[in-house]
Amino acid sequence: DWTMAEFRKTKIAEIRAQVGDGKVICGLSGGVDSAVAAVLIHEAIGDQLTCVFVDHGLMRQGEAERVVSLFKGHYNIPLVHVDAEEMFLSGLAGQTDPEKKRKFIGGAFIDLFEQEARKVGGADFLAQGTLYPDVIESVSFTGGPSVTIKSHHNVGGLPERMNMQLVEPLRELFKDEVRLLGRELGLPDVFVGRHPFPGPGLAIRIPGEVTKERCDILRKADAIYLEEIRNAGLYDAVWQAFAVLLPVKTVGVMGDSRTYDSVCGLRAVTSTDGMTADVYPFDASFLTQCATRIVNEVKGINRVVYDYTSKPPGTIEWE
Ligand code: XMP
Repeated sequence: DWTMAEFRKTKIAEIRAQVGDGKVICGLSGGVDSAVAAVLIHEAIGDQLTCVFVDHGLMRQGEAERVVSLFKGHYNIPLVHVDAEEMFLSGLAGQTDPEKKRKFIGGAFIDLFEQEARKVGGADFLAQGTLYPDVIESVSFTGGPSVTIKSHHNVGGLPERMNMQLVEPLRELFKDEVRLLGRELGLPDVFVGRHPFPGPGLAIRIPGEVTKERCDILRKADAIYLEEIRNAGLYDAVWQAFAVLLPVKTVGVMGDSRTYDSVCGLRAVTSTDGMTADVYPFDASFLTQCATRIVNEVKGINRVVYDYTSKPPGTIEWE
């Protein structure tokens, strides 16, 4: 009879055995996985753990504030907040290849974690909230030859030069199990029930070149879409929902003038583990309402489309 209470105990013992009296840096992404990993590791080794939240400027609206307040306010876990927007945006300038974007972001995270490790007098361990599906998808595609679909930044993106050992207590778990563990550890329900958010953030929701201006446009559209989903009482019925900003401009008309602006794509899927996914079948009136609000309220977007592709053959994120 395998329960989360037992898993928690076993993992705590394993973490203590692995780490000894060493120091651990844990990267928080704002998502559920890394938060659960951090709280579990904190329970195991207390102040040998330092949590680092890298704000890469690729967060959704209000995200950075939410992470900082959860950790500083709710838990007494020390949190280092690194403002790295400029570093990430300048590194992404001119990059349009999805794998290059992912590799750059993964490498930049490692550089920053190593820098923070030195600041605490040398940490030997880097903790991450890697899940089982992250491990599989970065390595191969089920049933086929070994092909990398995407380098999940927290798995395939780790360069060999990194001189820290990994602590990944959630490596055997699926998302629904991480949520159970989060509840077991006392994380608030609203936090545990949050949709997944990828480490590379908005960079993989802006096909083509990522700029601050495009991030700002996408943040606004995404916030409207999520607000509509919450207002309709659909947040928990959906595994993940988000907006993407396409590198395509189309012609439109606003009042009596011509517009020539970007296309926004909306995505919403149901899933149990992120490995396969079905499109969420919103009512047409709901999508019309989202499209109307986004075009009216977000400068830079004049057309909205809905993504009807399941996974496979699509992936959940667009890059
Ligand atoms: P895909 O797009 O591969 O996404 O179908 C499956 C799930 O994984 C999330 N995802 C990531 N999570 N780092 C993460 O922490 C990443 O690099 C990454 N890429 C995708 C995605 O949001 C979805 O929930």
